[in-house]
Formats: sequence, C-alpha cells, structure tokens
Amino acid sequence: MAVDWLKMRLDLDAFDGSVFDSLGRRCARAGIELTTMAALGDSPESRRSLYELNKACSADIPNRGEFFSFEEYVAQRIETPSYDPEGVVLALDGGAWVGMSAATIRPEGFAFNEMTGVLRPYRGRGLSLTMKVLAVEYAREKGVRWMRTFLHPDNSPVIAMNRRLGYVEEDPESPTA
Ligand SMILES: CC(C)(COP(=O)(O)OP(=O)(O)OC[C@H]1O[C@@H](n2cnc3c(N)ncnc32)[C@H](O)[C@@H]1OP(=O)(O)O)[C@@H](O)C(=O)NCCC(=O)NCCS
Repeated sequence: MAVDWLKMRLDLDAFDGSVFDSLGRRCARAGIELTTMAALGDSPESRRSLYELNKACSADIPNRGEFFSFEEYVAQRIETPSYDPEGVVLALDGGAWVGMSAATIRPEGFAFNEMTGVLRPYRGRGLSLTMKVLAVEYAREKGVRWMRTFLHPDNSPVIAMNRRLGYVEEDPESPTA
C-alpha cells in the first residue's frame, strides 16, 4: 500500500542552531567525533561504511522492507547528481561509524534531508540533533533558505526530532523554493 509521507520543512533564515550547542559539547565530551564524508575521503571503504551504517539504522524505519544491496545503494544514493560528500555528516566513536545525517541540494533550490540515523546504543543522547544542525550549516553555506524532508507517518521518533528542530508540516498553499 502506498505510504502517505509526512512532508516537513525548516526555514533556515529563522533557525537558531546555537540552542543546541550544549548537545554538541556533550557529544564531544563523550568522545564522539563529528566529521563528514568529504573530510574522511569519499573512498570505496568509506562508501561501504556508510552503507553498513545506513542499512543498520534503516532497519528501524517502519515498513522499510529489504534494504538495498551495496551496488544498488551506490547507484541510487551515491552516484547521483545531487550527492555531495560535504553534505554527509558523520558521527564516529573511536573510529566506528555510529551516526549519519545526509543532505543534498536539489536543483529546485532547496536542501533535502536524505537519511538521518543513529545506531541503537547511541540514541537518546542528542546525536541526531547535533548532526542535523551541522547539515543545516552545510545547506546555509550553499545559500538555500528551505530544508525539506519526507517522513514515514508512523516514525514518531524522527517526527519528534524534526519538530524539536523547528520543522513544520508543508503548507501546500504556500510553495517555496
Ligand atoms: C530518529 C533517530 C535518528 C533519533 O536519533 P537520536 O540521536 O536518538 O535522537 P536525539 O537523541 O538527538 O533526540 C532528539 C529528539 O528527538 C525526539 N526523539 C528521539 N527519539 C525519540 C523516541 N524514541 N520517542 C520520542 N521522541 C524521540 C525527542 O524530541 C528528542 O529530544 P529530547 O530528548 O530533548 O526530548 C533514531 O531514533 C534513529 O536512528 N532511528 C532509526 C532511523 C530512522 O528512522 N531515521 C529516519 C529516517 S527518515
């Protein structure tokens, strides 16, 4: 059955990421390193690690079904015109990849949140909020105003997380670039 995705957006002109600074400091104190795919190097090894992380986190998306093979993932999520390793924020613990938040800039002139995910043992510590604030910084540097996302309507943790950041449901009456 087709899913009626919840479409949300964030106004980057109004967003104040400084209110989440303390969460970033908490992650740093816990030894979590925040980086990007670009900084680590968009190598075959990095792509494999990204795939494994995305696959593990996606297992908790309602009705996600079977995940891509590695080859499908590279073709559909990496070797695409909008993929940018600068927009893939990563959280590492002692070299282990434990969280990701990927954003792309779409030709229509807005940023799109692709996948955000945190491995189960690392959840509930503000990691996804911290990574999404960095994704917002990436989008702002690219000069866009709006950040959009599509969420499964039964995925209450991610809906709550986006609301916490200030995302609101799309208003079809007021389209924005
Ligand atoms: C959604 C997900 C990324 C949240 O990651 P996280 O690092 O645990 O989230 P945070 O600790 O940053 O929490 C941020 C806010 O999200 C909300 N939240 C997170 N987990 C929640 C849960 N299980 N139930 C309700 N709200 C939740 C809360 O509002 C929380 O803020 P608060 O703790 O101050 O109340 C994580 O649960 C996950 O990886 N899920 C599986 C993958 C997925 O569904 N990704 C989204 C695909 S679009």
